[in-house]
Amino acid sequence: MFAVTCAQGAELADDCTVDRRTYVGWQVFHRTCAVCHAADAVGSSFAPNLLPRIRRMNGREFAAAMDEGYAGEAEMAPWGRNPEVRPYYLELWAYLSARAAGELPQGEPRPAPLSP
Ligand code: HEC
Repeated sequence: MFAVTCAQGAELADDCTVDRRTYVGWQVFHRTCAVCHAADAVGSSFAPNLLPRIRRMNGREFAAAMDEGYAGEAEMAPWGRNPEVRPYYLELWAYLSARAAGELPQGEPRPAPLSP
C-alpha cells in the first residue's frame, strides 16, 4: 500500500523517503485537502483529524466517502467529479494510511528516485 523509510529517530517527514504513490498522495492532499483537514491531516476547526477516521476505514469506504461526500457533524461535498482529485484516490489513501499507521511523521516526505 505504501513504503516509507525514515532515518532513525526522524521527527519530520523530510527525513523520510516514500514510494511515488505516497508522495503524489501528499501532493494532492497538500494542494486540495489541507485547507480544511490541515497540513498532515491532523484536523482544524473546519474539518476533523483524519488519522483516527482512516484507521477505522478500508480503501473501499474511503473511495465511497470521496465519491459521495460525507455527512457527519459537518459535511464534505463529493469529490467524484473533481479532475484534480478523482484520479488520485489510491495515492491519497496511501499517504493517509502511512500517516494513520504512524509510519510517516508530519512534513513533506521525499519521493524515492525513479527506478532506471
Ligand atoms: C471544505 C473543507 C474540506 C475539504 C477541502 C476536504 N474535506 Fe474531508 N471532510 C470535511 C468535513 C467537514 C468532513 C465531515 C466531518 C464530520 O464527520 O463531521 C470531512 C470528512 C472527510 C472524510 C470522512 C471521514 C469519515 O469519518 O468517514 C474523509 C475520508 C475526508 N474528509 C477526506 C478528505 C480528502 C482526502 C480531501 C481532499 C481531497 C478532503 N477531505 C477535503 C471537510 C473537507
